[in-house]
Amino acid sequence: MRERRDIRNGFRKDPVPHEVLLRVLEAAHTAPSVGHSQPWDFVVIRSAETRQAMHELAQRQRDAYAKSLPKGRAKQFKELKIEAILETPVNIVVTADPTRGGRHTLGRHTQPQMAPYSSALAVENLWLAARAEGLGVGWVSFFDEREMVRSLGLPEHLEVVAYLCVGYVDEFPDEPELMQAGWAKRRPLSWVVHEEEYGRRALPGEDPHDLLAETLRGIRPLDAKALGEAWERQKRMTKPSGALGMLEIISAQLCGLSRKCPPPIPEPAAVAIFAGDHGVHAQGVTAWPQEVTSQMVANFLGGGAVCNAFANQVGAEVCVVDVGVAGELPSTPGLLPRKVRPGTADITAGPAMTREEAMRALEVGIETARDLVAAGNKALLTGEMGIANTTVSAALISVYTEADPAEITGRGTGINDEMHARKIDVVRRALELHQPDPKDPIGVLAAIGGLEHAALVGLILGGASLRTPVILDGVSAGAAALVARAIAPEALAACIAGHRSAEPGHVAALTKLGLRPLVDLDLRLGEGTGALLALPVVQSAARAMHEVATFDTAGVTEKG
Ligand SMILES: Cc1cc2nc3c(=O)[nH]c(=O)nc-3n(C[C@H](O)[C@H](O)[C@H](O)COP(=O)(O)O)c2cc1C
Repeated sequence: MRERRDIRNGFRKDPVPHEVLLRVLEAAHTAPSVGHSQPWDFVVIRSAETRQAMHELAQRQRDAYAKSLPKGRAKQFKELKIEAILETPVNIVVTADPTRGGRHTLGRHTQPQMAPYSSALAVENLWLAARAEGLGVGWVSFFDEREMVRSLGLPEHLEVVAYLCVGYVDEFPDEPELMQAGWAKRRPLSWVVHEEEYGRRALPGEDPHDLLAETLRGIRPLDAKALGEAWERQKRMTKPSGALGMLEIISAQLCGLSRKCPPPIPEPAAVAIFAGDHGVHAQGVTAWPQEVTSQMVANFLGGGAVCNAFANQVGAEVCVVDVGVAGELPSTPGLLPRKVRPGTADITAGPAMTREEAMRALEVGIETARDLVAAGNKALLTGEMGIANTTVSAALISVYTEADPAEITGRGTGINDEMHARKIDVVRRALELHQPDPKDPIGVLAAIGGLEHAALVGLILGGASLRTPVILDGVSAGAAALVARAIAPEALAACIAGHRSAEPGHVAALTKLGLRPLVDLDLRLGEGTGALLALPVVQSAARAMHEVATFDTAGVTEKG
C-alpha cells in the first residue's frame, strides 16, 4: 500500500505488453461494487492523436485553474507536473455506468453515487496491481467531464471516474510528489480516527484525547540551535550587523520556530477570517446593524472586501469560517460552515456562551490551522469579522492587562462620544458581573469572549503546535493572543504582530505580549488587513536569510 504512488515524472517509452495490461485490468475488474453491478468500463487509449486531444483539454483546465489561484500558490503550481498523457504509452479511461444492473440495483437506490464510488475501487485495484508490475500510474482530473465524454465519443449516459496515464518507470518515490514539492503535507492518522463519536479522537488502544491537550503537547519554545545559527549567519551576511533591525529578529524567530536555518519562506500563506456575532450588540455599542456581519461574509466570498484586495496584492488565500454568525449563511465555495452557535449571548446579562461552546469554537480554530497547514500553507494570518467585537476584545484585554476599561475601549468602526461612553460602561459592567479569572482562560472566553475570539485562540495554538508562523492582525487578534498565552505561554514563539491598530486596547495588548508591530498605519478595520500588509515584510526577512551572500562567499571586506 505504501509503495503505491501517483506518478507523473520519469516514464520510460517501452510499451506495456498485452499480458501485463491484461493482468492489471483483471485486478481492476475484481473490485467490489454496489449490488455487484460492476459499473466500470475501461477504454484503453494508445493513439497519439487521441492523447494529444486529451492533453490539450487538460492543458486548458490547467490554465484556468492556475488563473484561479492566489499568487503565492500559482508560483508553486507552475513548477508542478500534473499529467503525463503524452509521455506514457497507455492511457486508460475508467467510467461508471449509473444504469448498469437495472433499476433495483441493491444499495444504489438510496445512494446513486455508489456507482462511481465502485469504479473508484476498480481504479485502486488497478493502481496496486500496476505497482506490482513495476508500472507507474498517474491519475489526471484536469478535465471538464462532459467535454471529455464528447471528445472521446463515449455514450452520454456514462460518467468518467478516472483518466489514468500508465507506463514503466525506473523508480517509485517514497513520498507523494505533491509532498516532495511542498504543495501539501500528510495528515497524521490520529487526526482522522474518532472513537464512538465524531470529535472523540483516539487511535485504537489509546484513550480519547481532546484536541486542545494534543495541540498543547506540540507547542515548544524556539529551537536554541537554529536560533544560534541564525544570529551567526546574520553577522556574516553582507550588511552591517543589525542593519536589518526588526527583520533580523523576525528571521531568527522563523529559524527557531522551524528549527531550520535558513527558515522556509512563509509562502504560500492564508488568512483565516473567523466570523461571529455578539449578543452585546443589543447594548448599543456600535453604529452598525448586526446583519452587516453576514453581509460582509458574503462580500469576502465575493472578493469585494479590503482583505480580498490586500490578499490579491500579497498573493495570499482567503479562508472564511462561520464560527458563529447569527443568520443562516448559504453554502458557498470558500466558506467553512463551522457554526458553534448563532451569535453569543449579551455579556452584560450573563455568560457569552457555555464552556463547552468556547472549547468547540477554539477547536474550530485548531482544525482550521491544521487544515491550512496540511494544504501547504507556510504562514497563517488572523482575520475576523463580527459587528460589536471590539467591545468584547476590550473586555478580554482588560482582564489580561488589568487596564481600566476607559483606557482600552476604543471607538471601533467609528462611534460618537455618547456611544463610546456607553461602550466603556458595558465593558465595565460585564467585568463586574463575571469577575473573570485570568488563570481560567476557557472560563474567560465563555464569560465575556466571542466565538471568533475563541477560534482565533485555537488558530494561534494550532499554528504554534505545527511550528508555523502566525501573523496577528489587530485588536481582536491581540486579545486572542493574550488568552492563548494564558493557555500556553510558548505559543507566543509562533506569533508575529502584523500591525498596530488605532484601537487603544491593541497597544495595551501588544505591550503586555512584548510584541512589536511591523506596520503602523492607523488601520482599524480588522478582516486580517494589517496582517496581510505585514506578510511581505515577514517573507522578506526569511528570503534575506536564503539569498544574501556572506562576507566569505562574496569576497566583501568586513568592517575593520
Ligand atoms: C481522485 C484523484 C484525482 C487526482 N487527480 C490528479 C491530477 O489531476 N493531477 C495530478 O497530478 N495528480 C492527481 N492525483 C494524484 C494525487 O495528487 C496523489 O494521489 C496524491 O498526491 C497522493 O500521492 P500518492 O498517490 O503518490 O500517495 C489524483 C488522485 C486522485 C485519487
